[in-house]
Amino acid sequence: MKARNATATEEPLEELFPSGVVSIVAAERHWNHPLRPEEEVFVSRAVSKRKREFAAGRACAHEALSRLGAPPGFLPVGPHRAPVWPDGFVGSISHTRGLCVASVARSSSLRSLGLDVEQSTPLPSEIVKKVCRPDELSLFDQQPDPPAGTSWPKLCFSAKESFFKCYFPVTTTWLGFHDVTVRFDNRDFEVSMARQDLPSPPREALVKGRWATHREFVWTAVTWKESPPS
Ligand SMILES: CC(C)(COP(=O)(O)OP(=O)(O)OC[C@H]1O[C@@H](n2cnc3c(N)ncnc32)[C@H](O)[C@@H]1OP(=O)(O)O)[C@@H](O)C(=O)NCCC(=O)NCCS
Repeated sequence: MKARNATATEEPLEELFPSGVVSIVAAERHWNHPLRPEEEVFVSRAVSKRKREFAAGRACAHEALSRLGAPPGFLPVGPHRAPVWPDGFVGSISHTRGLCVASVARSSSLRSLGLDVEQSTPLPSEIVKKVCRPDELSLFDQQPDPPAGTSWPKLCFSAKESFFKCYFPVTTTWLGFHDVTVRFDNRDFEVSMARQDLPSPPREALVKGRWATHREFVWTAVTWKESPPS
């Protein structure tokens, strides 16, 4: 199987991210890639499934960084499990059963980015209210169901995970699922802070969410771009 990047048409990454973001979807060689010793230490006690997904994510991230011209190095695990990207780069990693993706950009083009992939099966009903706020649920009730057998709560879950992965590296602030509100519009979504006491992206920042369904997965992405100086 060939590695794919944001220019490939089979995956929705081109729709999810602006140009300048390089995404690598794990192929066989990424799943089987040996971890560098400096990275192996972070999963030395993990079960083999976790080691394999961690290694695939690192292999994809290294390939994306290399395509963007980053020097070879390793990607430590930082606070709250966030990858520590090399100076001058931002990125995000996601894995779910059978799929692993890493997306990377130069920090001169984006302040941060977040990516999440999930199985498209609807969110279990007992979890829906833990993830979605009542105002979100009442809007979802008024919208036609999303495609590919998924549900708005599942997309909301993924959108919040993507937002968190984009938000945390900038703010180092933990978020609960009810701390933000997601509004879907066609293939975009907007995320707003539901709590005034938490750091919020500055008003002039461009924070954009995009979503897609492809194969048996939902894909969501959030980008945070500083507005150009006026
Ligand atoms: C951290 C979290 C978002 C990861 O999502 P997930 O669906 O469980 O797993 P994914 O495979 O999609 O993502 C895991 C990757 O996210 C990245 N990640 C983990 N913590 C992160 C953080 N604090 N900031 C940015 N990226 C992070 C890592 O690269 C990790 O993979 P790795 O450990 O192999 O490097 C999730 O486990 C979590 O803790 N969520 C609670 C917080 C949250 O999402 N709140 C939403 C409120 S808006």
